[in-house]
Amino acid sequence: MSSSVPLSAMGTAPRPPRIDFSLLGRVVFVAVVTIVGAGVIGISWARLFASAGWEVRISDPRPDLRELVERELTGAPVTATADLAEAAAGADFVQEAGPERIEIKERMLTTLAAHTRDDVVLASSSSSLLPSLIARGNPAADRIVIGHPFNPPELMPLVEVVPGPATSERAVDRAVEVYRGLGKLPVRLKKEIPGFVGNRLQKVFNDQAAYLVQEGIVDVRDLDDLVRASLGLRWATVGPFESGVLGGGPGGMRHLAEHVGSQMSFETGAPDPARAGEVLDAVEEAYGTGEAAYERLAALRDGRTRAVLGPLGWAEHGPAGERDDPSR
Ligand SMILES: NC(=O)c1ccc[n+]([C@@H]2O[C@H](COP(=O)([O-])OP(=O)(O)OC[C@H]3O[C@@H](n4cnc5c(N)ncnc54)[C@H](O)[C@@H]3O)[C@@H](O)[C@H]2O)c1
Repeated sequence: MSSSVPLSAMGTAPRPPRIDFSLLGRVVFVAVVTIVGAGVIGISWARLFASAGWEVRISDPRPDLRELVERELTGAPVTATADLAEAAAGADFVQEAGPERIEIKERMLTTLAAHTRDDVVLASSSSSLLPSLIARGNPAADRIVIGHPFNPPELMPLVEVVPGPATSERAVDRAVEVYRGLGKLPVRLKKEIPGFVGNRLQKVFNDQAAYLVQEGIVDVRDLDDLVRASLGLRWATVGPFESGVLGGGPGGMRHLAEHVGSQMSFETGAPDPARAGEVLDAVEEAYGTGEAAYERLAALRDGRTRAVLGPLGWAEHGPAGERDDPSR
């Protein structure tokens, strides 16, 4: 862990991004990000911001914070503190990644509002909480926005940017600019909805997966293999609408809808919540639990993700992948 500014010496006065003249005559703007929460998502955000040249401050009340940061962010320009107000002072951007509990988010954002400049965006990583709820009664509601990553943020290109009714255009623009600067693909929603877009789609899909396992149609590993070998690979190359266009041949999605789609009329069913434990047992039996299983599975996922990012046009920490250009 290293820092040019000890946290104890930081004041609350507004300050512009620091200019670092040390790199062989190049002028480099070093901006400061405060990451709130050093869990799965916060640590990954910290790695991403640090690798893109930001000075990172991370705050979390967990007693093992310093050891965790030393282990997970070795050599990165990161300082750690349990004191959120102290970590927020002087930040140019805040990425909140604390627990997914409305009362905790509200409390954290109240502290952040009081200890940041009024031009600093407070972006929450929340997976599903409405920005209007987490910003309720907050004097900085105009600069609170959702910046929802997919796990792990350091590898997955998407960040969903979701404004609440009180969020200013300027805050949304700034969040989009920051995420682009990190090499991400920020997708800006027009308005808020619980679960946003990514997790609404994921919920429908995961509910159906649980239903199929509960009904004894397929087991956990076979379902995962089926998805990796079909929809997962497909959706990494074309989106569902684009895939519909291709599925219909030259007749496009209209042909697919009238032809194959018209015959797909069946009830999808829903998993029984009272039997949710059965699915969890089956998943644990298939993949294991605990530190060793997590490390093994995360390494496998990260290796595979890194292997496909470049060929698919998503350079790691580089420019965002290109869309199809209909004029070509
Ligand atoms: N895990 C995912 O797949 C995923 C994906 C996208 C977004 N998210 C969102 O990211 C956020 C973090 O999720 P996670 O999976 O990293 O959770 P996590 O449980 O791994 O980490 C949360 C961290 O917050 C810390 N914390 C508790 N109180 C705090 C406080 N007052 N101030 C600062 N830190 C505090 C905890 O000690 C913990 O280290 C959530 O809002 C979640 O919805 C999670």
